[in-house]
Amino acid sequence: CSTRADVLDLWFEDGEQCYRWQAVVKPRSAHRLKSVAADHGRRERNREGGPPAGSLLERILPLLDHGGRIAAQAEQTNGGSRWVNVPEREDRGDERKTGGDAFRCLSRSVAIIPFEIDGRNEGVLRFDSTEPGFFSRKLVESYENLAQSLGAAMANRRAQAALNERIKELTCMYRIAQIASESNLSLGDTLSEIVEFLPPAWQHPEIASARIILDEQTFRSRGFEEGPYRLGADIVIHGIRRGRVDVFYTDRDSDSGKTLLLEENPFLEEERHLIQGVARELSSIIEHKHAEEEKARLLEQVRHADRLATIGQLAAGVAHELNEPLGNILGFAQLANKSPGLTGSLRSDIEKIISASLYAREIIRKMMFFSRQTPSRKMEVNLNKLVEDGLLFLESRCTKAGITVERRLERDLPVVLGDPAQLQQVLVNLVVNSIQAMPDGGKLTVGTTTRDGAVILFIEDTGVGIAPENLKSVFMPFFTTKDVGRGTGLGLSVVHGIVNSHGGSIKINSAVGEGTCFEIHLPSMAETSGEGGRDGEQG
Ligand SMILES: Nc1ncnc2c1ncn2[C@@H]1O[C@H](COP(=O)(O)OP(=O)(O)OP(=O)(O)O)[C@@H](O)[C@H]1O
Ligand SMILES: [Mg+2]
Repeated sequence: CSTRADVLDLWFEDGEQCYRWQAVVKPRSAHRLKSVAADHGRRERNREGGPPAGSLLERILPLLDHGGRIAAQAEQTNGGSRWVNVPEREDRGDERKTGGDAFRCLSRSVAIIPFEIDGRNEGVLRFDSTEPGFFSRKLVESYENLAQSLGAAMANRRAQAALNERIKELTCMYRIAQIASESNLSLGDTLSEIVEFLPPAWQHPEIASARIILDEQTFRSRGFEEGPYRLGADIVIHGIRRGRVDVFYTDRDSDSGKTLLLEENPFLEEERHLIQGVARELSSIIEHKHAEEEKARLLEQVRHADRLATIGQLAAGVAHELNEPLGNILGFAQLANKSPGLTGSLRSDIEKIISASLYAREIIRKMMFFSRQTPSRKMEVNLNKLVEDGLLFLESRCTKAGITVERRLERDLPVVLGDPAQLQQVLVNLVVNSIQAMPDGGKLTVGTTTRDGAVILFIEDTGVGIAPENLKSVFMPFFTTKDVGRGTGLGLSVVHGIVNSHGGSIKINSAVGEGTCFEIHLPSMAETSGEGGRDGEQG
């Protein structure tokens, strides 16, 4: 209004985009402003991808030049502004005929003022007036001052906006680093927190949502909406793509429900760098957490092995101490049983003593196995043959229980150095456990394979599975979930003792209601260097 012109038209560049604002004071005698993305002024990159040729004014002059009069007859200031006036004798534009569209008025005075915004971008102002002889050099020069201030204000505003964006990005990265340093948080909790930091770091937080996908897990920001605009980056760990992080813009206004019109690519260049930075940061956090978890797992394994070793020593002592008196009880009971003239009830009592002693001796034998007190005779053992021999008499038991048996034996399996009788015991104990875990029938798979220089015997069932809280205890002597009389809880302890004395390790994979797989890893002959145990994994 203060310029006294009827129409003001402002064009300006922002990177490769060009925008246009228009204020029409007359003929509506109302102040009207609108913003449009102006395609005509858009900077086209030249063929070599270099900066566009020509100034903004050169590119849009044909549009602004009212009837070509500016190019032909304009006066010009030193600053490059031009103007033409409607001569007194020419007819005034008829506003009624043109329906109020200022640009279709036939005769008008026009001034065009180019200005700089920040050295990189430019702007152009066009003033229109229907008044004849409206513009003077003095007036146009005063517009030039106005345009310069406008350019400076716009540059300032842009720098401020860029600074705000930068602050948001840095805050986001800082908060991620802060959360990552909280070692008591699990990986899942860490990612759940981080995903909430992402939308506020984007230019339009009110329509932004974020999502982090890692392996099979997905973490979403509150009120997540997968909008049509997406900016994402891969999460790569040790060269393997493990997931991705994405920020979405929705095109729906959450308050009004109206569809928002965004640019084709509404994300800032800085935001592209930011998402890459976030993905890199996530990769290193995940790597770090995995390493921590692995360390904790190994520590727990060592503790578990220590506990078992202590129990083993105790068991060995007890077994040794009990063995002798038990031998005496059994020997004398058997002797007494042979005495002539025993009454029926006396004989039956003695037989009970004998069978109880035999049972106790069996337990002691198992305890000695567990504590590796049993001498072994090691030789080359072919596990495939061991499985075939073992299944000979176990298979009929399976069939009776409604269990089908599958063999999956690797051809040309390397031999292992071991005690065949003890390894047979391992197979029997594991198969018996599997049979007991499938009271309603199922499938048993017994197989062999090789991995990382180890020969593996695996026994897999489709039984009840082992509850996660019991996994740690199954190797403890006398740990059983079976009814009294059905299990002593020594089967797996024996397995553990034997495998350890062969320098091997055991892995358990189990899911409640689905089944269990025990893997016995034994060093192949090529890898075996002498005898002796090596503490391994206990699952
Ligand atoms: N294949 C399996 N499926 C489900 N649970 C199992 C399996 N193998 C072992 N378990 C669990 O581990 C426990 C300990 O097994 P372990 O063989 O040491 O003792 P037990 O079978 O109970 O008794 P024992 O073998 O001395 O007769 C079992 O009671 C059972 O809860
Ligand atoms: Mg058992």
